[in-house]
Amino acid sequence: MIKHLLTGREFDLNAFEKLMDAAAMLKAGRGKANQPRPLEGKSIGLIFSKASTRTRVSFEVGIHELGGQPLYMDAGKTQMGRGESIPDTARVLSRFLHGIVIRTFKQSDVEGLAEWGSIPIVNALTDDYHPCQAFCDLFTIQERLGKLEGVKMAYLGDGASNMANSLAMACKMAGMQFVIAAPEEFRPSQAILDENPGKGTAEWTTNPDEALKDADFIYTDVWVSMGFESEAAERMRILEPYRVDMNAVRKAKKDVRVMHCLPAHRGDEITDDVMDSEYSIVFDEAENRLHMHKAILYTLFS
Ligand code: CP
Ligand code: NVA
Repeated sequence: MIKHLLTGREFDLNAFEKLMDAAAMLKAGRGKANQPRPLEGKSIGLIFSKASTRTRVSFEVGIHELGGQPLYMDAGKTQMGRGESIPDTARVLSRFLHGIVIRTFKQSDVEGLAEWGSIPIVNALTDDYHPCQAFCDLFTIQERLGKLEGVKMAYLGDGASNMANSLAMACKMAGMQFVIAAPEEFRPSQAILDENPGKGTAEWTTNPDEALKDADFIYTDVWVSMGFESEAAERMRILEPYRVDMNAVRKAKKDVRVMHCLPAHRGDEITDDVMDSEYSIVFDEAENRLHMHKAILYTLFS
């Protein structure tokens, strides 16, 4: 039984396929009678140390639709913001809440909550991982193509980001071919590239054309992730050749689709004409956050 979602490694292919089935079931049933309510009588805390639109709103709405009560906490306005430790916070909140969804900086804080608390913990983004988003992205691909195995995704931009890490692991688990095009300064972690969670592959190149060749999907993320604002000017300069513009799109398969976890910085990592083109599926992808988050909670609480 899976208790937490901390890095994404908790789900093997078999568990992930069940998770996608749950997401499809919850999506098809949304708004209809007799939907599952595994969170009936339960309160789920959302602890956020970083900004959020999609993750916060989709979890709050999803928790409500599953019969539970969401409780949003701006971490800076809790005693954590004044230095109360993770072990103490975990032990106290476990007495009140039935689960915690947390967005923060340090991965070790998420894992500390799971270690010291006694309730399910969901990682809603750290500096290292964004598993909820990567799972949603694969569900979006599965919905479109009916398969994941053998599908090629080209990722252009910051290869050392939480999204690159989580997509690399999820794509490998699902048997996909994931190619990161990133400069040396923002190359993916070798440990992530070497990890072997399934039949898929993850590679790094500095050449966007190599990644784009025969790509079924192009993915990009902001060049300046939350918490890295002091590096903004340098990042913009170094990542410029990795912009997803129409020229990049034309180098992939004819029916390629473009994905982005959002928020997009239009004109930086992705151009307006790509974002608003027939190639873009970013808003379907965003909608699926709701269905996937409900599926994650359904899986942890059923
Ligand atoms: N993609 C994503 O996590 O969006 P938010 O930062 O708006 O939650
Ligand atoms: N890499 C981005 C993802 C935002 C959803 C960040 O961490 O800011």
